[in-house]
Amino acid sequence: MTGQVLVASNRGPVSYTLGDDGSLTAKRGGGGLVSGLSALGPGAGTWVCAALGDGDREAARRAGPRLDLADTGGQAVRMLDIPPLTFDAAYNGIANSVLWFVHHLLYQTPFEPVFDADFEARWADYRAYNAAFAEALADEAAPGAAVLVQDYHLSLVPWLLRERRPDVRVGHFSHTPWAPPELFRVLPDVVACEVLLGILGADRAAFLTRRWADAFAACCADLLGAEVTDEGVTFEGRTTRLGVHGLGADGDFLRERAFRPDVDERLAALREQVGDRRTIVRVDRTELSKNIVRGLLAYRRLLTDRPWWRGRVTHVAFAYPSRQDLAVYRDYTAEVSRVADEINAAFGAEGWTPVVLHVKDDFARSLAAYRMADVALVNPIRDGMNLVAKEVPVVSERGCALVLSREAGAAAELGDDALMVNPYDIAGTAEALHMALSLSDQEREERGKRLAAAATALPPRAWFLDQLEALRA
Ligand code: F6P
Repeated sequence: MTGQVLVASNRGPVSYTLGDDGSLTAKRGGGGLVSGLSALGPGAGTWVCAALGDGDREAARRAGPRLDLADTGGQAVRMLDIPPLTFDAAYNGIANSVLWFVHHLLYQTPFEPVFDADFEARWADYRAYNAAFAEALADEAAPGAAVLVQDYHLSLVPWLLRERRPDVRVGHFSHTPWAPPELFRVLPDVVACEVLLGILGADRAAFLTRRWADAFAACCADLLGAEVTDEGVTFEGRTTRLGVHGLGADGDFLRERAFRPDVDERLAALREQVGDRRTIVRVDRTELSKNIVRGLLAYRRLLTDRPWWRGRVTHVAFAYPSRQDLAVYRDYTAEVSRVADEINAAFGAEGWTPVVLHVKDDFARSLAAYRMADVALVNPIRDGMNLVAKEVPVVSERGCALVLSREAGAAAELGDDALMVNPYDIAGTAEALHMALSLSDQEREERGKRLAAAATALPPRAWFLDQLEALRA
């Protein structure tokens, strides 16, 4: 049965660290796909992923084709040991330095797609990395298997897999936004067309919102001359169906996990720092698209323009390290700390730290912050969905208000009860923070309840099963 459903993604459900003594320590990850796949029951499905660092590579070498089930919690995982230089060029050099920027509309220096003399060589590595996945999937798949390929790292896989195994059903899911045609054209023509054709190799291409699905279809029409109908996208006589599955928060898991003792402990520590002040919470990877600096500037604007809030509110901001191999991410991480320090220096007073910034990843502490949130600030420049926007209302103890970017995919589902902002508009975001902080308890609680209901409408297991069913239909 395991060969019947395959999942392919760059990052797998487990990662390894290599100790100085040569020992390997496995750490299991969470997230939508992990709990989605668990819907198939214990031991079902096979996950194909890449080895991301030295620990993973060593584990993949020692284990042979499949990782030890004791490390993976019983999940069959094939971790691909792709040559480090090829992996680096594909992951850092193309997926994260080009495709990510294009889909998130990051086009202005220093956040811009990198086209340099090496671009063609990096693109060749991206092809090789995608081909390694296609080979492994072709090898793993039972006749007629369903293969769910994830994200912009693997956009060529559907096509490459179809060439090798025309008998399997292939789905591709984009967790990012999709750029509109005039901006997707920033990519060299050949590359842009190859990405589209790669995904059109799937039987079904799915997205988090209708907006991103429509943008993909528009790119196919514009760049390839493909025909777009209600059925999907037809190119050279083959139709790829389009689908939309808005991944929701895992309400049952969050409500249980957020009230365990380790979270209580962290909540007590945060309460000590914040006191009984109002709390604006944000939790993000330190990701350029998350717009953390503008969020901090909006908070500074709030304190400047509305001095009444000084000493009465604290901004609890968690900005966890991400993609630190890339200089532009390292610089951004430093900028976030610098701006937070500036605000604290300018406004801080005895017994009040205006911004409590934490940069070390700690899931239990994130949940503690969710519990204490009066306001959640989620202001990305652009985001496929943004699960934090969905998770905070589920966990917050007093019902929280949500200040949400209109450019987050979550806006399609939460827009009615969130306070919507233009992510570039610092003054507007400051005003929305003020309004959110000023809601009456009753209004905040009522909005919070409606937000939580909308946020959990399609939890990960249902999200995953819906895709599978639609692919097999
Ligand atoms: O948003 C797209 C996405 O692939 C998410 O699914 C995931 O959280 C993130 O980007 C992966 O980032 P990375 O693996 O580079 O840390």
